[in-house]
Amino acid sequence: MSTEADAVSGAELDAELAELLDVETFEPPAGFREQALLKDPAVYEQAASDPQAWWVAQAEELDWFQKWNRVLDDDDPPFYKWFVGGSLNVSYNCLDRHVIAGLGDRVALHWRGEDGQERDIAYAELLAEVERFASALKDLGVQKGDVVGIYLPMIPEVVVAMLACARIGAPHNVVFGGFSAEAVRERMEFSQAKVLITVDGAARKGKTAPVKDRVDEAMGDLASLEKIVVVKSKGIPCQMREGRDVYYEDILAAADPACPAEPLDAEHPLYILYTSGSTAKPKGILHTTGGYLTGVSATHRYVFDLKAESDVYWCAADVGWVTGHSYIVYGPLCNGATSVMWEGAPDYPNKGIWWEIVERYGVTILYCAPTAIRACIKWGAEWPGKHDLQSLRLLGSVGEPINPKAWLWYHKVIGGERCPIVDTWWQTETGAIMITPLPGITATKPGSATQPFPGVFAEVLDESTGEPVEEGQGLLVLTHPWPSMLRTLYKEEERFIETYFKRFGRDIYLVGDAARRDRDGYIWVIGRIDDVVNVSGHRLSTAEVESAIVAHAEVAEAAVIGQHDEDTGQAIVAFVTLQGDIQGDDGTVEGIRETVSGRIGKFARPKRIIWTGDLPKTRSGKIMRRLLRDIAEGRALGDVTTLRDPAVMQQLEDQVKELRAEEE
Ligand code: WTA
Repeated sequence: MSTEADAVSGAELDAELAELLDVETFEPPAGFREQALLKDPAVYEQAASDPQAWWVAQAEELDWFQKWNRVLDDDDPPFYKWFVGGSLNVSYNCLDRHVIAGLGDRVALHWRGEDGQERDIAYAELLAEVERFASALKDLGVQKGDVVGIYLPMIPEVVVAMLACARIGAPHNVVFGGFSAEAVRERMEFSQAKVLITVDGAARKGKTAPVKDRVDEAMGDLASLEKIVVVKSKGIPCQMREGRDVYYEDILAAADPACPAEPLDAEHPLYILYTSGSTAKPKGILHTTGGYLTGVSATHRYVFDLKAESDVYWCAADVGWVTGHSYIVYGPLCNGATSVMWEGAPDYPNKGIWWEIVERYGVTILYCAPTAIRACIKWGAEWPGKHDLQSLRLLGSVGEPINPKAWLWYHKVIGGERCPIVDTWWQTETGAIMITPLPGITATKPGSATQPFPGVFAEVLDESTGEPVEEGQGLLVLTHPWPSMLRTLYKEEERFIETYFKRFGRDIYLVGDAARRDRDGYIWVIGRIDDVVNVSGHRLSTAEVESAIVAHAEVAEAAVIGQHDEDTGQAIVAFVTLQGDIQGDDGTVEGIRETVSGRIGKFARPKRIIWTGDLPKTRSGKIMRRLLRDIAEGRALGDVTTLRDPAVMQQLEDQVKELRAEEE
């Protein structure tokens, strides 16, 4: 309930934010710049004039068992290889070398459970558990090159599992805990996973959701899957199949405590991560060892200006997305950072939990998604206002465009106007941050990711001519290979070329985003050009959601679009035609949402469902999503003359108006 005092302070805050809206650029605060790791803008020219030398300097920060003999093999684009002939191990770089350097007692993770439970895990401890679990995986028959699935919530064991896989050269395939068991099955099947590591149950805002039993239902008799490892996290009973299922704790206790890190080729696969593309079938993004670690560690160090000995870093993403892979696990651990890991949601046990955590651990660097910031704005400045946030010195944003209002609120209310904000643009495919301010160098503009990271080359190309746009809008591309780039789509080489390297040729990576370049050369990422929607920073394909919806017994046909949404950036809107003369009602809406939940996950449920007798189609039968988007956004309709049945549009417009009126 908001009190009068709140209302006044809210109005004052709004007025102050409105004033800030007139400020065009924000220079790095002088005090910050003086202390920054990178403060000389010459770094950009140096890296641009010899990108390979720049990346070599970054790779040299890692421990290699054997140095490379060639930096970049670009003989057969787009199949690039980096640090050819080199050998290293990611888990060695994230753990052993810090312990050897005498930093074993440094906290790697301040883990905090939803119920307030705390675990501080030091580097030496993490190494010990990773070694044991790596041995245990070997005991289960996992060999170098075997794919291991991981379906775990935000508990320390997920980090252990990933590093143990990396230690023995078994590429992991992590599935975000918010995906349904069905989605896990599909991803295990595509990647032919041999082992799946999961959990008895997961914390969900004060309740425990069973996980293992759901997994069992979905997994059926997946032939490739030989073992399921179950972490006893919540202590709830679950079915264990004789000969297939084992408890994490049991195999750990029986395992050899020593498991030296396997020297792996720089191009050995580190992981596969499925992400949404234009079709219903997710794409298996493949990342390898040397280049990936070089990219994530360098960006983590310089974008977050990391001082490992004093910073407390918190990336409030989920480990199941690429942000978690690169900036909860591999980047920070490789750099010897102390991180916070929070099991729960941002609004449980109350809406101030994030700020309580910042105060409790003295967080200095916070990295999160604009959706979270917008939610905090809605909840009100009084929540962060209850906590001391003075420890913060740098803020980051990732996953979707950040609207200037959210940027300014973040800057003022959370950052106390003293923290630079790094708005970082990148993708699952790029592995690491690509376009971003350098906090001690770049003057920021709210809403712009600003400039490519040193050694990265981005351009905005005109959609029709393919020529670089000096000022204006076009398609975002990356024009040079970079070490942490995806190497292929797992088992789909043709699709890899087709998706990213067809439009402008084999040496220009098509990002899939539209962007604008302003008169100062700053890049403003606008959004996807393909049928990918971004809901709260979660990537989804419209085709994927459509195919889930039509799985509902009463649905004949569906078309899904992303609609602009104040809270979640984009929201899913589904236009649905039911079978025969079935009339849709609230029960049908719920049923469809449930089906989508079961097939993909709760986060993919359509926000709005609009019934339609038919979908707008061209005479050749193609659904015209452009028209659906126009309708949903309330825009004037473009040309409808190519439609098979133009009357459909009128009916739809009426429907949408009705729905709007109901919602208001
Ligand atoms: C979008 C997440 C604007 C973009 C790391 C991209 C952004 C997609 C930003 C990748 C940003 C990510 N500003 N848009 N700072 N960061 N995006 O693979 O559309 O889950 O193509 O990787 O998110 O999403 P993904």
